[in-house]
Amino acid sequence: MKRRTVVLGLTGAAAAPTVGFAGAARAASGTAPRAAAGDSSLVFDPSSYTEQTISLTDTTGTAHSVTYRFFKVASYVARPVDTTYQSLNISVPVAIDGVAVDASDAPVLLANAIGGYMPSSVANATGIGASGMGGGTSRQGLALAAGYVVVEPGARGRTLVDADGVYYGTAPAAIVDLKAAVRYLKYNRGRVPGNVDRIVSSGVSAGGALSALLGASGDSPLYTPYLEEIGAADAGDAVFASGDWCPITDLEHADAAYEWNWGGNPLASGATVDATVSAGLRAQYTDYVASLHLRARGYGTLTTRNLDTYLLETFLQPSATTYLAALSDPARAAYLTAHPFLTWSAGKATFTWADFLTHVGARKKNAPSFDAFDLSTPECNLYGTGTTRARHFTLYSLRHAAGDSARLDADLPDKLRLMNPMHHLAGRANPHRAKHWWIRLGTKDTDTSLSVAANLATRLTGLGDDVNAAYYWDAGHGTDLDPGDFISWIGKVSGHTARHR
Ligand code: DHB
Repeated sequence: MKRRTVVLGLTGAAAAPTVGFAGAARAASGTAPRAAAGDSSLVFDPSSYTEQTISLTDTTGTAHSVTYRFFKVASYVARPVDTTYQSLNISVPVAIDGVAVDASDAPVLLANAIGGYMPSSVANATGIGASGMGGGTSRQGLALAAGYVVVEPGARGRTLVDADGVYYGTAPAAIVDLKAAVRYLKYNRGRVPGNVDRIVSSGVSAGGALSALLGASGDSPLYTPYLEEIGAADAGDAVFASGDWCPITDLEHADAAYEWNWGGNPLASGATVDATVSAGLRAQYTDYVASLHLRARGYGTLTTRNLDTYLLETFLQPSATTYLAALSDPARAAYLTAHPFLTWSAGKATFTWADFLTHVGARKKNAPSFDAFDLSTPECNLYGTGTTRARHFTLYSLRHAAGDSARLDADLPDKLRLMNPMHHLAGRANPHRAKHWWIRLGTKDTDTSLSVAANLATRLTGLGDDVNAAYYWDAGHGTDLDPGDFISWIGKVSGHTARHR
């Protein structure tokens, strides 16, 4: 049941400024006052909300009555390109099961709902995105019932095209928008409810990739021109923690990674992919993995010679172990009988990489999986520009199409870096990155290579960050099997106890 008790005027999008915003002015002169007139549209109005009461079911199955204030921010930038996407909603719990809560210093879950690198809008939402895809309570709903502030940002996406045929949501628009949303929150420190030094980003798939990128690239000057163009608030964009489910990331290496992982697996149709293409891409992965200089305790430097064993022992066997340990004795016995490739001994599951690949079965994508020869993939569109809907973004696919001397368009190397968290974690890693990471992936997710999330987690662990990474056994793309644990984890890393999980 929804109840509206307060309806006040919402901040108007019409308040878009006509003078330069503080960030641009400061960059130009170094002396301009921070609160230039242009920032007025970016001042959060704490009195402009509706109050609603909803019922949310926590992960133990208990229903809670949650009363919250729902704020609609018409745009988080001063010079929006499209407020349908560049807007955000804030939900702030005020009472849970009739007991008042004070969320003024609570962690802030910044939950993006981006999928497929598509545009994502919250402009028409009249309340928090409380229900998940399975009809249960969403991550946002759980966070609200835990007493946290929930921010739901929209962002431009790859398919947006204006009347002149110009694509205005291709790379790096989505990450620029998410950063602008963070800047809006930090600019409104003290005005906006919640602790803006405890922003926890979350997302799934493309949204997981962008959440990881937001975590890795905090305060990076590489985005400054893009942020200035849209009038982002004059504040930092670093986040405290990053939750990333099945991140579809490291895109320019994802074709090679995919063939390294799934190259021997058939398509669902039973057809096999072009063996020459698969082998060519797979061979590239050796150089790429070597270039990462990833190290892991007990394995030394990771290479394509030990990466399979490392994945198996670090993520896949522990995943099966967790799954089997949670089953009843008869259910476990039945699973083991049905899956003889798996050995269960002394409470641990073991199996070979080859048998695991056979167990997963069909690969979802053809080769190349991301930079498709026919430009049909989401990623080719993501790297479109101007009136060009889609482009090749790897030399391999470009040269397949345009010959051996073809070069990537001059803007692409920078755009690839702007979209890839690994770039921000390489060499002298970004010191402003998030230091707390929650990384999850299903072991049957063939949307990308299983090594993509593992490499991210391994790099972060090597940097000394607090990394909670786990794979869900036999789970497919987009799965979240431990949502309550994520809510508890937010409380733990932020030092704020969850009411419910
Ligand atoms: C998503 C899935 C993909 O396979 C992909 O290539 C890009 C995005 C997604 O679900 O968001």
